[in-house]
Amino acid sequence: MESNRFPEGFLWGGATSACQIEGGYNLDGRGLSIADMVKFIPKEQRKGDRPASVTKKEIQEMLKNEDSYYFPKRHGIDFYHRYKEDIKLLAEMGFNVFRLSISWSRIFPNGDDEEPNEEGLKFYDNVFDECKKYNIKPLVTLSHYDTPLNLALKYNGWANRKLIDFFAKYVRTVFERYKDKVDLWLTFNEINVMSKNPYTGGGVFLEDSDNPLQLSYQAAHHQFVASALATKIAHEINPNNKVGCMLARAVTYPETNNPLDIIKAQKANQMNLFFTDIHVRGEYPGYILRYFRENNISIQKELGDDEILKLHPVDFISISYYKSVTESSNSNAERLPDSLFTGVKNPYLETTDWGWQIDPMGLRWALNDLYDRYQIPIFIVENGLGAYDKLEEDNKIHDAYRIDYLKKHIIQMREAIKDGVDLMGYTTWGPIDLVSDSTSEMSKRYGFIYVDKDDYGKGNLKRFKKDSFFWYKKVIESNGEIL
Ligand code: BG6
Repeated sequence: MESNRFPEGFLWGGATSACQIEGGYNLDGRGLSIADMVKFIPKEQRKGDRPASVTKKEIQEMLKNEDSYYFPKRHGIDFYHRYKEDIKLLAEMGFNVFRLSISWSRIFPNGDDEEPNEEGLKFYDNVFDECKKYNIKPLVTLSHYDTPLNLALKYNGWANRKLIDFFAKYVRTVFERYKDKVDLWLTFNEINVMSKNPYTGGGVFLEDSDNPLQLSYQAAHHQFVASALATKIAHEINPNNKVGCMLARAVTYPETNNPLDIIKAQKANQMNLFFTDIHVRGEYPGYILRYFRENNISIQKELGDDEILKLHPVDFISISYYKSVTESSNSNAERLPDSLFTGVKNPYLETTDWGWQIDPMGLRWALNDLYDRYQIPIFIVENGLGAYDKLEEDNKIHDAYRIDYLKKHIIQMREAIKDGVDLMGYTTWGPIDLVSDSTSEMSKRYGFIYVDKDDYGKGNLKRFKKDSFFWYKKVIESNGEIL
């Protein structure tokens, strides 16, 4: 690497997901997904920011009376109709990669249909063609928190082994269809979320289970096999396809140098890295087998599962990185608000308005740690600051706080590359404001582009460039040299 520029060919862009941007939830044959059943709950009525875990009973009730709820993820930011305008704006910033996901229920509305929905396939043809117009490489997630609802209700989602076959059919369809348009793929978004919120991770209802852990880890096993199978199919269809897994990497630190804290933090890290261990090394590590034994978990495997995992490792690892967490053996230590990854307060770090600890150096640590462990390329496919923005009277948005957050993280990425980490690219989360996953708010904004819409769906959906838009454009233009 010369001076402070990033390596030649480094991929710069932004990341989104279908259920947070598209809208058009009932158009052109699309079926409902689990994300479409998450209703908006105002901040005052929520406990922390953990994504909703909707029960089967609640869904059945809501379906009887859908009009009395507001489901933000059904509407997103209307990318379904505005993708041309949006991709043009991303291109103006100089993006050479754009991460988006395919909505499975747009392609197979019920998940278990015989034939795919041609109109759904056509939509992504159009989107990928639009990217090509500007030389933007699509990086496509196959499943981002939006399992088809029918698969959840009828089979209990990924807890059922049948989903492996449904998924294989879906991925084969899209790999074949977009063979000449996409060669960078991710299988399951933040696959480790399955162990924390199986509804979001894979449409699994836990309420009738007397052993919820068993159900969650069994569902994870099905996703591991499906992910390896997808990698196999992708390589067969196009040897140039590169397939990655995706991990929410919330690094865990020990609160003190008390060995009890250190072991506790190590365990927390292992419980996450277990998901990448399987994708890269192709086998269940000893520490998780011990955890299974001690928690009465017994994974049901079929003949050939171990072989599939071993023979089809991923080509690269991708991560989301927003924060670090700290664990303590002291049960009286002050804890941060509830969220998917939380822990005790780290006095050295500031937090966002949502209580997420801002830790740029933790990103350097995470990259080094992952690269030491696996020695395969890494892609940061999510990072960013969720913040309240203000649209001024002159239609400007002064988001110096976002620039500051991103700048500090990019500096640490640069350090990690100097440390020898093979980093492929960087896509910031939500380059255009979108619906928050955990809270379904619009007011938790990540974008370089402001979208006029509020938490209750009101607004004219107009797009406005924030100060960070012009800043990121320069970062990309200078290949990371000017920050
Ligand atoms: C990741 C998810 O967990 O973080 C995204 O992959 C999500 O879907 C992002 O939107 C930010 O989280 P939130 O809850 O602020 O939207």
